[in-house]
Amino acid sequence: MRKKIVAGNWKMNKNSSETADLLTQLTGTLPNTTAEVMVAPTFVNLALAVKQMAGSSVEVVAQNMHFAQSGAYTGEISSNMLQSIGIETVILGHSERRAYFGEDDALLAKKVDAAMDADMRVIFCFGEELQDRKAGDHFKVVENQLKNGLFHLETTQWKKIVLAYEPVWAIGTGETASPDQAQEMHAFIRKTIAEAYDQETAQVVTILYGGSVKPANANEIFSKPDVDGGLIGGAALNAEDFAAIVAAI
Ligand code: 13P
Repeated sequence: MRKKIVAGNWKMNKNSSETADLLTQLTGTLPNTTAEVMVAPTFVNLALAVKQMAGSSVEVVAQNMHFAQSGAYTGEISSNMLQSIGIETVILGHSERRAYFGEDDALLAKKVDAAMDADMRVIFCFGEELQDRKAGDHFKVVENQLKNGLFHLETTQWKKIVLAYEPVWAIGTGETASPDQAQEMHAFIRKTIAEAYDQETAQVVTILYGGSVKPANANEIFSKPDVDGGLIGGAALNAEDFAAIVAAI
């Protein structure tokens, strides 16, 4: 049985009091579920979020981290720092990190390794841009992102990997990949992993879909056999919407 996950990526939203408020609202609104529920506030609010959600079933996760443990990397945060406040899962490779901060596959592979060294779980994001899809290159692009970012891992390390397919053209645009487009890509991702590793690894890994998931479309997207949950941006900033998406899983 694959793990189902719904994770809220808050991106650069919510100051400290807003973070506390949203977490309080979530505590009152989230339905009971067997799925894992995660929230990713900004770095400065992680410690307060961990404290506030202690004892709840919601896991607080980070949006990014550096590959080094410590050193002269002004403005960066290490796995050790995250773990010291109780964070055990990190989102890596988000398309906004790739597009606006120059994070490429080689850097992401190093970050993935740092997470593996620290025994942290990674939510690894990838996905094609609109021009790739228009050119019919979306499968190739995704295959390369997986190969370059993750396929150096040992089979046993895959138990610490969650995948998040986020087509860039669907992020924050209101345009969702159709459930069939999501299913087609998720099935392709599993096939690619099965070829690089084995069927079991491919069947066990959780693959999330991200990109304009809302209460109105979550049911249909989550009903697809290879879609194991969602990475939610905008709709995760509203407790009722996020709770409705969690209910859909
Ligand atoms: P939206 O749900 O706002 O499209 O964002 C998706 C995303 O980037 C989650 O990481």
